[in-house]
Amino acid sequence: MMGINNNESKIINGKNYSRDFLTHISDLAQKFENLLNRKPCLAVILIGDNNASKIYVKNKILTAKDTNIKSIEILLSKNTSECDLLNEIYRLNNEEKVDGILVQLPLPNHIQLEKVVNSISPKKDVDGFHPQNFGNLMLGNDTVVPCTPLGCWYMLKKELNDLTGYHALVIGRSNIVGKPMQSLLIKENCTVTIAHSKSKRLAEISKKADIIIAAIGRPEFITREFIKSNSVIIDVGINRNDKKLVGDVKFEDALKIAKKVTPVPGGVGPMTIACLMYNTVKLAYRRNNQMFKEILY
Ligand code: GUN
Repeated sequence: MMGINNNESKIINGKNYSRDFLTHISDLAQKFENLLNRKPCLAVILIGDNNASKIYVKNKILTAKDTNIKSIEILLSKNTSECDLLNEIYRLNNEEKVDGILVQLPLPNHIQLEKVVNSISPKKDVDGFHPQNFGNLMLGNDTVVPCTPLGCWYMLKKELNDLTGYHALVIGRSNIVGKPMQSLLIKENCTVTIAHSKSKRLAEISKKADIIIAAIGRPEFITREFIKSNSVIIDVGINRNDKKLVGDVKFEDALKIAKKVTPVPGGVGPMTIACLMYNTVKLAYRRNNQMFKEILY
């Protein structure tokens, strides 16, 4: 019994954090509706029939509904041309009552990610992927922060409060997670190391880190020899292993050695969706020249 309780106190409950946060966002969305006579509105575009993407989009739509946010789901066939997708985005850019636009990734191979990301109006860029928003994040300016790194940041702040001076290791250098995460951690006065699949002696580096953000995309890659005692581990990985969902971290090892760890599922995933709702409401206020008192970022 004792062991179980001890383990439970080590688990960072992303589901609980997201629930609290969404309650707050829902209130903000309701206030927006009182002011503007309409709900904040998020448009989600899904191209093709990738099963994982379909599940993510469904979760986003359901969460929006529960959060006083209107959503528009646009389903396009996997053969949709790049030109037709860009035209759809332009239409949504010019739609007065659409506050946020999200194009679910990954895209089919015949569509260039860069063109899609650049075509979304920075004012409606709920993912924070547009070069203008991304650049502002790198500069430490006010911006829209990509949802997954923002969710990781949120949980770290709740768990540790002041991150000053900690050695944070980000494993993964993607534009969606690794690079924006680096900026957020630098702003928190962390000493930041970025590692990736080509890094040599990763276990050695990792063993020195106070905070690990694991976003490598390899199931249960981070095992005991990577983990320093008393560290805090945020597992961004979502890997399907024989129908079971596992992260990039070997959870049992992390539970034994680390101070705190996020589970998969129930860690970063729910926080990512909550942050998408946050970004939608924030952009809705901004676009409509309403005061948005920053409750987060
Ligand atoms: N696919 C996986 N993660 C993301 C994300 O953060 N945003 C979008 N648009 N698609 C994704």
